[in-house]
Amino acid sequence: MPKKKPSTKKVGAVAPNRPARKTKRTSVVTLSRRNSSSSTVYPDYDATFRPDDAIVQEGPEVLQPSKLAYRDDARGLYLYHGDCLEVMDHLLQKHPGGVFDLIFADPPYFLSNGGITCHAGKMVKVDKGEWDKSRGPEENHNFNHEWLRRCQALLKPNGTLWVSGTHHVIFSVGYAMQQLGMKLLNQVTWQKPNPPPNLACRYFTHSTETILWAAKNEKSRHRFNYTDMKRANAGKQMKDVWTLTAPKPVEKTLGKHPTQKPVALLERIILSSTSPGDFVMDPFMGSGTTAVVCALLARTFVGIERDSVYLDLTFRRLHSVTFDLTVRIHVFVETQNDLELVSDRIDPIPAMSTEVAPKTDCIFHEFKFVFLSCAHVSQASVVHTTVDVSLQQAWAHAPDGKKRQTTHIVRCETEILRVKSH
Ligand SMILES: C[S@@+](CC[C@H](N)C(=O)[O-])C[C@H]1O[C@@H](n2cnc3c(N)ncnc32)[C@H](O)[C@@H]1O
Repeated sequence: MPKKKPSTKKVGAVAPNRPARKTKRTSVVTLSRRNSSSSTVYPDYDATFRPDDAIVQEGPEVLQPSKLAYRDDARGLYLYHGDCLEVMDHLLQKHPGGVFDLIFADPPYFLSNGGITCHAGKMVKVDKGEWDKSRGPEENHNFNHEWLRRCQALLKPNGTLWVSGTHHVIFSVGYAMQQLGMKLLNQVTWQKPNPPPNLACRYFTHSTETILWAAKNEKSRHRFNYTDMKRANAGKQMKDVWTLTAPKPVEKTLGKHPTQKPVALLERIILSSTSPGDFVMDPFMGSGTTAVVCALLARTFVGIERDSVYLDLTFRRLHSVTFDLTVRIHVFVETQNDLELVSDRIDPIPAMSTEVAPKTDCIFHEFKFVFLSCAHVSQASVVHTTVDVSLQQAWAHAPDGKKRQTTHIVRCETEILRVKSH
């Protein structure tokens, strides 16, 4: 079947029913190239990504083995529906020297094998889906080796790969990285402060995941935004133990994925090791957390997902971050000072109008709390920010040290309203 002309957004059988968005029509994305000497390492090095590089066939008729299901040239977002091994093979044919600055992979952990866990206070079987069932240690390792080999090849010479996992998969991933000659940079422990209890009472409560960070090979000169991370950690060197909660309810309002990663985790990964405009890939995209963070942080993104239900969830999440935002700011004054003078200036009540408001659905709702330390509004410094369901929860979850420094809290309420009728 002949390839169709590239369009601004191509959604096939998995397309949700929604109005088309206006985007700029361009057919190639020229990527920032940090290392001008890369072409001497890889003579075939080509940093120009063409969205149809990875397509076998595209078209709305039948789901093809690999298909460009969504494209947004204006923001540089490309989602493929298919098996990641196959899509990566197609990308490799076009980019044998690599094209991505960062790859984040949250692969199957192979842990859905009849065990039990606690969900919403109930004992349930661990069953994330067919894709998460173990096929035995050898086959699991072969699979890990295969997708890791492709990811390594698709990294630019100085690009890095982040892979999350638990003990079910992470040792195989680490071993495969060594077999492939990658350079292990860090073993990050993601610690979850509120894990579900261990119902069997025969093990310690599982409360961590491991994230391995590796460079393409020993010669790589990887990017690490050291100063940004130090600043984000209140001026102290950031350690390799990150305490971050599981995805907040607001991150699941558009639908759920059984192994969804928190936005805050991807934000930290992407901010620590890329620059704006860099090119990121996620071969196991799931609900599209990496896609959402790339859209918010202006990184170019390629995502691959086999399951159309999750691809559809990613569309919806991406769609929600494209709306113009209505932001209301309330200032809670906790001490007497000059902030009181401005509090009544914020969110003024508009003069009465005869205009009737349109009918709307709220499709996204979020509270962001910014904890400030300030003697004067002009000298405020941010000590902590968090997204939470209420001020009470945000305060409860804030570290004690941050609470002590806080004199004011800004609560930003974001609502995205879909207009139903005028
Ligand atoms: C652990 S989940 C990723 C969750 C994701 N990080 C998020 O925040 O939602 C892994 C995803 O990979 C998909 N998957 C599994 N094997 C795949 C393959 N060979 N090619 C593409 N996607 C695959 C599954 O359908 C699942 O949605």
